[in-house]
Amino acid sequence: MSTASFPEGFVWGVSTSAFQIEGATSTDGRGPSIWDVFSADRAEACDHYHRYPEDVRLMKDLGMAAYRFSVSWPRVLPDGSGKVNEAGLDFYDRLLDELLAAGITPYATLYHWDLPQAVEELGGWPSRDTARRFADYAAAVHHRLGDRVDTWFTLNEPWVAAFLGYSDGSHAPGRKSAAEAFRSAHHMMLAHGLAAQALRSGGAARVGTVLNISPVLTPAQVSDFGRQLSEEDAEAVARIDALANRQFLEPMLRGSYPAELLPIIERNGGLGHVRDGDLDIIAQPLDLLGVNYYSPSVVQAQPSEPASPAYPGSEGVLFCTIPTAVTAMGWPIVPNCLSLVLRRLSAEYPELDLMVTENGADFVDVVTGDGIHDVERISFVEEHLRALLSAVESGARVRGYLVWTLLDNFEWTEGYQRKFGLVHVDFATQKRRPKDSALWYRDVIRRNGLTETRPKRPTLETVAARSGVSRATVSRVVNGEASVSPEVRTAVMRAVKELGYVPNAAARSLVTRRTNAIALVLSVPRQGDALTAAVVQYVTSMLEGAGKQITLMLADTAESHRRIVQQAEARLVDGVVLLPPDRGDTLAERLSRTDVPIVLLGKPAVASLVPYVDVDNAGGAAAATEHLLASGRRRIGMICGPMDLVAVQDRLAGHRAALQRAGAQPLLALADLTRASGAAAARQLLGDEPALDAVFAATDQLAIGALQAARELGRRVPEDLAIVGFDDIDAASATTPGLTTVRVPLAEQALAVARLLLSRLEGRHTTSVVLPTRLVVRESG
Ligand code: FCB
Repeated sequence: MSTASFPEGFVWGVSTSAFQIEGATSTDGRGPSIWDVFSADRAEACDHYHRYPEDVRLMKDLGMAAYRFSVSWPRVLPDGSGKVNEAGLDFYDRLLDELLAAGITPYATLYHWDLPQAVEELGGWPSRDTARRFADYAAAVHHRLGDRVDTWFTLNEPWVAAFLGYSDGSHAPGRKSAAEAFRSAHHMMLAHGLAAQALRSGGAARVGTVLNISPVLTPAQVSDFGRQLSEEDAEAVARIDALANRQFLEPMLRGSYPAELLPIIERNGGLGHVRDGDLDIIAQPLDLLGVNYYSPSVVQAQPSEPASPAYPGSEGVLFCTIPTAVTAMGWPIVPNCLSLVLRRLSAEYPELDLMVTENGADFVDVVTGDGIHDVERISFVEEHLRALLSAVESGARVRGYLVWTLLDNFEWTEGYQRKFGLVHVDFATQKRRPKDSALWYRDVIRRNGLTETRPKRPTLETVAARSGVSRATVSRVVNGEASVSPEVRTAVMRAVKELGYVPNAAARSLVTRRTNAIALVLSVPRQGDALTAAVVQYVTSMLEGAGKQITLMLADTAESHRRIVQQAEARLVDGVVLLPPDRGDTLAERLSRTDVPIVLLGKPAVASLVPYVDVDNAGGAAAATEHLLASGRRRIGMICGPMDLVAVQDRLAGHRAALQRAGAQPLLALADLTRASGAAAARQLLGDEPALDAVFAATDQLAIGALQAARELGRRVPEDLAIVGFDDIDAASATTPGLTTVRVPLAEQALAVARLLLSRLEGRHTTSVVLPTRLVVRESG
């Protein structure tokens, strides 16, 4: 078979980090790190501290040429500084000897987020001293290990450590101050510069750092990189690129901050911490830039948007969810963006060598008796490798590729539920099992390339041909029937393994009584709306990522309802996602009486034990009403949609509650869901109450109807009459004036419903999810 080859000497390997795999958090004198204090998860992780010989052997068997690991600062300096804990360094000493004996080149990262708690207590990264302490630590590590490590990376993803750790607060140490995050980012870069100097003066061969570089695009650019942007969108993209990427690239590689960042830092605590000479220290010459790439950042200009806590200074920028395939983390899969990043870096920094130091994916792995057939992970890595190769072919200086990651491990705030490993870890027994992706990657490494065409998924016939028996025999073996001799069974199972055969779902279900099929039940009136489209897209992508097959079913007639219930009763499906028909329907209730797990999108009309995903309709309506009251409106009418819709009932309830708190009276008009009925209801409200100064409509369509009616009646919006809608459909930003409304998350609902079903399938306890809604203020009110 022909191959798409990588350059000679291209480096293949995997990356890990200390806190995510080592465990042994209080062994041999290790001190606590901020993650020990911050995380409630169990600390053993993969027990790599004790099992490293096995892990190195695994890597050797898989043919890895390189292993990027991180050194735990609190293992080396339990108090953060001062006396070196030689016993902690002994571990890395043993690890390095093992790696070198296996012919694997070590790449050491000095900081992968596990700051000694003692240093945090002295001020953490917002304190300038931390940079100096880090340089001392780097020197101590190099002193002991420098004879066996050629390539040193100072930091891993300082953006994450600074902004998720100190501003957004979702990562350790969990602080929430934009000013501290900018200070931390600066001090991390200073730490990088000082450590690079220390490493070099100790004789280090190659010094680099690792940044997470996300290309920043608008939704339209995701499918068309060259798309021209409006001035507003271009500014939004440039600002997020400055915050996420150039905040680190430019000081480290050019010795200056991006100009547009300075006023942002100035507004968020000032620039006092940036001292003369710092940027010269930060801009140390680098031999290698590590690039971690997972997915793009997708943004667009949106004037009323508040800043995201992870990106202080991002006011007026909306972070968008886009309808692409996603991993189980919900991260969009856009392999071409890896090309984009590598080309860009090579164009902007033509002298710099690059290495993809992390790339990989979390999917829900299905562990079967004959292995973990993680085809999605294989496709993910393969597509990214093709993108990487195309960048190399156009001149990008990419020297290697490291998969994140070797083992399923502790994924920070997400704990152990995330599966990024090429190797499966059973955390009850610590048993390691290479997934199909590991074996596939071994072959890629061996041939230094990808096969030109992907082998087709093997079938029963391919297995029969390989093992020299009939299809029927293969089927009997795969289905565990006893009537096959042990020799034949062994031969068939060998072929199954070699070919990576995944048994046909139907055949398997005869034996396992599980079908792997999930019914996604839609009702006809909802087909074609944006939420249904998002649900079909995301639920399918996520559940297919978990090895399920999705069957779409329409619940449009009594007959179809009967069929769906029958299928569930006969267990022809393993689970049901139901977008309940809007009105007084009993399908959910009937399905809930079968044993098949079911989840609903939208709160059901009749309270039941079936878990559902909904949005905070009442809260959104209250926020809209309070906004109108706060802007001085006193006579507020509400256009209600059909009152048998639960969402409409909740929106009305939120509206009433807000009015009541302000001592105002409700004024209601009924409508169906059409614009025309919204216009009619607005006319009626204005006729009944000429002093009306605001209209809150239960949906954007109704609000747009009300805008039309106001225009016809000569009422100026918003001067005479404010109008606010609900949902934030696409049309809402295209009205004149732009419609103020309440945004309902679409993709998030879809992802939540898929996650809820997966938890139910795994037999975990589940509760309903209500996602927040948010007021989007435009010009209409
Ligand atoms: C990167 C981190 C790594 C891991 C992956 C999924 O941001 O460097 O530790 O969490 O994401």
